[in-house]
Amino acid sequence: MIKLGIIGAMDIEVALLKEQLTDPKVTHKAGSEFWEGTLRGLSVVIVRCGVGKVNAALCVQILADLFGVTHIVNTGIAGSMDADLDIGDLVVATEAMYHDMTVTIFGYPRGQVPGMDVQAFPADEALSEAAAAACAKRAVRFKRGRIVSGDQFVGDSAVKDDILENCGGLCVEMESAAIAHAAYRNGIPFAILRAISDKADDSATMDYPTFEAKAARDCAAITATMAETLAK
Ligand code: ADE
Repeated sequence: MIKLGIIGAMDIEVALLKEQLTDPKVTHKAGSEFWEGTLRGLSVVIVRCGVGKVNAALCVQILADLFGVTHIVNTGIAGSMDADLDIGDLVVATEAMYHDMTVTIFGYPRGQVPGMDVQAFPADEALSEAAAAACAKRAVRFKRGRIVSGDQFVGDSAVKDDILENCGGLCVEMESAAIAHAAYRNGIPFAILRAISDKADDSATMDYPTFEAKAARDCAAITATMAETLAK
């Protein structure tokens, strides 16, 4: 039986999902509200973790310890790192990696956390397939590949180029590698689904406020479709 933890960084990324919960029960922990209930027939716990890696990771641990989730999905928005990914398109992660973990001076590849056996944390294939199927069902354009994260809003072409050159990635945001890292350490399968809100370059500060809400809502709607598939 799946019990799915659903994490979004901001209210707008999870509001639509919380509205659809039946029999919601809210628990407060570490400054977040954990909304437990049934979403389209699936047992879920929804949380707005807040922005950035630490907020994201600690919510994973709470979902694991207090709620016993069996799977985790991260929904939200991201900046595009791929010329073929436009605002409104979706990305389903094959893996997530930090772009700001830099211990290269001691021989670690960029992104790798010393002591971890992987440079990028692999997403669960079956769960990611369910995310991709939900994208296909709703006829949105999507790509699958690496997502990179760091505690930085990328809105500068030079920063974007540096990340691309050293880390690659289809899109950049601020939580998923931390969610992936914490899930990996707990042995919890995870998937990441992100909608593009900007191009992570000099146009980002203009585009982001314009497209943030729509991209976040679209991504949440696809996450709900994914829950429906998983409930069957
Ligand atoms: N989330 C949405 N757009 C982003 C960007 N350009 N950088 C980091 N996180 C983001």
